[in-house]
Amino acid sequence: MVSPTSPIGVFDSGVGGLTVLHELLVSLPSEDYVYLGDTARFPYGERTQAELKVFAAQIADHLLAAGAKLLVIACNAASSAALHSLQNHLQSIGSDVDVIGVIAPATQLAVAGSRSGRIGVLATRATVLSGAYATAVAAADPHVHLESVACPDLAPAIQSGFPFDEALVEMIRGYCAPLTEAEVDTVILGCTHYPLVAPMLQRALGRGVSLVSSGAGVARSVERALAARQRLNPRPGEGSYRFQCTAAPDRFREVGVRFLQLPFGAVELVNVAPVDMVAP
Ligand code: DGL
Repeated sequence: MVSPTSPIGVFDSGVGGLTVLHELLVSLPSEDYVYLGDTARFPYGERTQAELKVFAAQIADHLLAAGAKLLVIACNAASSAALHSLQNHLQSIGSDVDVIGVIAPATQLAVAGSRSGRIGVLATRATVLSGAYATAVAAADPHVHLESVACPDLAPAIQSGFPFDEALVEMIRGYCAPLTEAEVDTVILGCTHYPLVAPMLQRALGRGVSLVSSGAGVARSVERALAARQRLNPRPGEGSYRFQCTAAPDRFREVGVRFLQLPFGAVELVNVAPVDMVAP
């Protein structure tokens, strides 16, 4: 049985979702958090929609068993494939835990902020192929044009860690070129890894283009969802946060500390899947 003092569960394929966790820790400091990076099956951007639905259900079951009172899918690829199937999964097991994804918060900010009505999205292949941003933008405003660019090599380059070099800058220039060509004034960072290279993206796109990421909007959605069920943690001070991943915990910690920009504790190695599902 969950209560206001239960933790919030947050997950991603790796360290990218730590950019969302960072916003949550700043916006809702009284909460406790458990973050899971499914590093054994990274990158999610090259997975099928069916695989991502299975992965999301396995991780949800794991985080519910850890007592989570709300789940945040801090990954665009998993949100675009599995938000609705996960909500159905939770309903089918009789859980009233809410699931918050990253697609709607980023879309709402971008559509509201664009003056020209021309928006770009940079995302993994899985997210672009899902059409989730195209659907969300059309639902928010059918007169907004969305230019989508799949960036298959970008999340793996960021996940592999620092230092960032000229080859990465060149890769980023290549992915941004179609958006400059399309004359967008707003670009959605449609992968939670990308805020980490925001300065390089901003330089390639130019100062006049607004970059939008999902973190702040996700934090507001989480706050509203918890308030609606009287599940906000009433403690006056700061809560705790802890980390789990499914492979290479030392590496996760080494890269993760730079993503979170906050102190980082130990990382626990966990298994969320049957053995034959772990290897790619
Ligand atoms: N961070 C994930 C996202 O937001 C993508 C990284 C991956 O390909 O696993 O889509």
